[in-house]
Amino acid sequence: MARMIYILNGPNLNLLGKREPHIYGHETLEDVERRCKALLPEGFDLSLRQSNHEGQLIDWIHEAREAACGIIINPGAYTHTSIAIYDALCAYEGPVIEVHISNVHKREAFRYHSYVSGRAEGVIAGLGLDGYEAATRRIVTLNGA
Ligand code: DQA
Repeated sequence: MARMIYILNGPNLNLLGKREPHIYGHETLEDVERRCKALLPEGFDLSLRQSNHEGQLIDWIHEAREAACGIIINPGAYTHTSIAIYDALCAYEGPVIEVHISNVHKREAFRYHSYVSGRAEGVIAGLGLDGYEAATRRIVTLNGA
């Protein structure tokens, strides 16, 4: 059975490609899925999901405890607010990579702090959608492949 990587996306990221393209670009979450799937080695698969609801993201993180060999998460604005997502990730034993499409450190001060970073093996910000690809490669490496 293939080892599964979860790519979880938080609020407003369903609008990727349409939302503030000067910040987030013109590509969509479907492009993220296509790009990341293209670089998976044999024996790996991925499940890309998006929700505007904190509880749904938490439920998927819980599900990942049994189902996923790594989590890539762009929590959107929950990055800066959600202790609950941090706690859920702490209950997950595999590797976690936090991704932000934009460079959050070049933007408003309220984006400088992330609750998630304290649990993540790695943090990527400002590489656009390339960040998801780098995170996928890293999860594969951390799984010894
Ligand atoms: C984001 C950055 C967050 O500050 C913002 O709330 C988002 C997207 C990013 O990918 O750059 O929704 O996570």
